[in-house]
Amino acid sequence: MRQIQLFDTTLRDGEQTPGCSMNMKEKIDMARQLELLGVHVIEAGIASASQSDFNSVRAVARELHKAKVTSMSRALTKDIDSTWEALRHARYPRIHLLLPTSDTLLENRLKKSRQEVLEQTEQMVRYAKKLCEDIEFSAEDATRSDPEFLAKVFETAIAAGATVVNIPDSIGYATPEEYGNLIRFLRGSVKGAEHVVFSSHCHNDLGLAVANSLSAILAGADEVQCTINGIGERAGNAALEEIVMTLKARSAYYGADTTIDTAQIYKTSRLLSTITGIKVQPNKAIVGENAFAQESGTLPPGMLSGNLSYESMKPEAVGLTTNKIVLGKQSGRHAFNDRVKELGYNVDFALSNTLFKQFKELADKKKTVSDRDIEALVRSILAQEIPKSYALERYVINTGNTITPTSSIALIGEDGSRTEKVASGFGPVDASFNAINKIVGRAVKLEEYSIGAVTEGRDAQGEVSVKISSEGATAKGYGLSTDVIEASILAYINAINNLIYDRSREEQ
Ligand code: KIV
Ligand code: ZN
Repeated sequence: MRQIQLFDTTLRDGEQTPGCSMNMKEKIDMARQLELLGVHVIEAGIASASQSDFNSVRAVARELHKAKVTSMSRALTKDIDSTWEALRHARYPRIHLLLPTSDTLLENRLKKSRQEVLEQTEQMVRYAKKLCEDIEFSAEDATRSDPEFLAKVFETAIAAGATVVNIPDSIGYATPEEYGNLIRFLRGSVKGAEHVVFSSHCHNDLGLAVANSLSAILAGADEVQCTINGIGERAGNAALEEIVMTLKARSAYYGADTTIDTAQIYKTSRLLSTITGIKVQPNKAIVGENAFAQESGTLPPGMLSGNLSYESMKPEAVGLTTNKIVLGKQSGRHAFNDRVKELGYNVDFALSNTLFKQFKELADKKKTVSDRDIEALVRSILAQEIPKSYALERYVINTGNTITPTSSIALIGEDGSRTEKVASGFGPVDASFNAINKIVGRAVKLEEYSIGAVTEGRDAQGEVSVKISSEGATAKGYGLSTDVIEASILAYINAINNLIYDRSREEQ
């Protein structure tokens, strides 16, 4: 059975989505999780784009031991040099070169002739090959390029040392038949095709990104580029989880499979939502809230029997469990740690201590602690794992439907100093954010705010994601509590800490 390589570009193409930018720590957290998921290649960003992108790519390159790490680079020597500088510490580095090939982009953006593009391909792949053995060459806007010219470009790239050739459907324009046919044509006509891996890269403007990627697999592509939750510019990229689960459910049809650890899918999806603050739509295949929900009464007989006769997969296959562990004050650390491990978290000693402490506090407030609660606790701890310029000491809210809400907040600064301020607002959350703004002494604007319940039930934990901006910079924050006002305050403080952390990293 062919094994399809998953090339994850969540940290590059996905991050280009408005509102999805990630700081270095968030990229490292995400990259670690992608490695646990078992993706083969992680595109960590565009190292040559800015100093902070360079730092993030280098940090991810240093962090990973199993996955290949790549960074996209324009086919220019100065970009290739800085890309390699960021990647060279990776255990398995790959340079990802990009050059447009459609006449539209050649004329309007590159302002080069086809002959000049062929020459640039030859020279830049050769240049990059001297630095790195593994070179992926992408022909931007491939699906709107002249196929004969595209074949020549790939032939040139392969002769110069490319190991992977990628055929992006950059504007999400192709249909599955067309895209498959293009790949078939290229595999059959490009000299040297048998020595390289063919890769697909599909955008979802017509809602066809996953279908096109699967068509590419049928046509002989052995690598697919995709993102978690399908995030990406405009309508996004092909969703990794949908491609992987289709291959799992229909491997006989595709004659292909993947070594991805599907039990990590749900966790990876949730981590990305936490980091970006962008939730997946409830009816999203595989990872949406309703993907496995079944309303009894609307189902044909037999559907509730729990076998696969009416389901193409089980929720457990993507790491979704319905288990509940009922652990209270008496529960031992041992049983709790075992459950955390079963959920797929490999936590170190310090993290496991914090986690256990927070679990105990939660078990005091909540009757049952489900796996989802534990996962949310882990997400919250990961989100708070940055230097804390401010920490919440206490808050007091005075609110009602006949008074102006006020909030008094006390924060502890990095140096241990305590500041307390009172402010009013449109509601208790607004009043709290205003009080925090007074303490931090800067103009902070709330750009986005979203709130959700981790589980069902009146004692559920609330999770809040916020995005703030201040002096031209933006940052996100996450907060978790059984009290939604506290969750909001924690998310806001977390965002301010991220803002300060990002700024200090940029200054370094
Ligand atoms: O959509 C696209 O063309 C891309 C390439 C740069 C790979 O993201
Ligand atoms: Zn793209």
